[in-house]
Amino acid sequence: MKKYLVSIFLLLFIFSSCGSSNDNGDSPDPSTDVRTLKIAPFKVGFAVDVNLLRSNTVYRQTVINEVNSLTAENAMKMGNLSSARNVYNWNDADYVVDFATKNDMRVHGHTLLWYRDVPQWVENFSGDRNAWIALMKEYIQTVVGRYKGKIAAWDVVNEAFEDDGQYRKTIWYRNIGAEYIDLAFQFAREADSSTLLFYNDYGMEYSAAKRTAITNLVNDMKSRNIPIDGIGLQMHIDMFRSKAYFTLAINMAASCNVKVHISELDVATNPDKDPKAKFTAEVALKQKTSYKAMAEALLAIPADQQYGLTIWGINDAYSWLTDNPDWGLPFDKDFKKKPAYDGLIEAFNK
Ligand code: XIL
Repeated sequence: MKKYLVSIFLLLFIFSSCGSSNDNGDSPDPSTDVRTLKIAPFKVGFAVDVNLLRSNTVYRQTVINEVNSLTAENAMKMGNLSSARNVYNWNDADYVVDFATKNDMRVHGHTLLWYRDVPQWVENFSGDRNAWIALMKEYIQTVVGRYKGKIAAWDVVNEAFEDDGQYRKTIWYRNIGAEYIDLAFQFAREADSSTLLFYNDYGMEYSAAKRTAITNLVNDMKSRNIPIDGIGLQMHIDMFRSKAYFTLAINMAASCNVKVHISELDVATNPDKDPKAKFTAEVALKQKTSYKAMAEALLAIPADQQYGLTIWGINDAYSWLTDNPDWGLPFDKDFKKKPAYDGLIEAFNK
């Protein structure tokens, strides 16, 4: 009998310490840690590197364990998809879509038009405004059409504004004028009537001019019945950014009555690029506060506007921030959960 009681106590102990932080605030033992970011009331995603997804088992398994949405970090950008007019390389983009489908995940398409990663053949193209519109339409409709019904939403236009709120003079702007934005959304809608269409950008958390420009654009598009369903706020922030600023950005986006996506979250800990910087326990806790506050800010807007939260990468070994050095992501270089991860879970559990 005594033996029996001891086993029950042991089992209770194991269960109570499983899946939650203990009283010291330490993270659970990784071998019994069953937590997942999928407990959020909205979709949570990672931006994925297709080569790592193909070849790195831990990377792949972390994706499967943790998220229910995927963004291709680079594979769906124009420079990767198309090397000449009407010449497409779908391998990597298809891989992401197939992987997501097999694992029951949403795919967020990123991105149809951007000022960067424009292929050489587009840079070299010469034609009048109508020829440029035709080229843009052909590209958008080919890509959106290929994944019709498989990609839940597209970042149709990425980074169309400068920080001062002026239109960025992208190749599309220079050849078509500001109307390229309306047209891009209309062409995307024609190619897939049910995918959600997003405008995506950075900087709404620090530039009032950019906040105003983006919300004016979206309100204006809506008033003219140009199809637009959401705003993506990239949120490449650093741990010194106060919650008040990113909450303001999220709330302003929500005020346009569209869906809101935290689309590229990472929290830099070394924004000044000090080559001697270290990732100390204190820094880790400060970073945790930012991750938690970001999730809370999204949770505070109306539920039907909470499209999701996507983290720009998975772990610190494979982040676009690595040249600083920096430690911006919720998993460390060995895929161990950092306090930043705990912060997200705490927000989602509330
Ligand atoms: C970045 C990728 O992370 C890098 O690998 C690539 O070299 C450049 O692009 N805003 C965006 C993303 O919308 O597409 C960018 O991704 C980061 C900034």
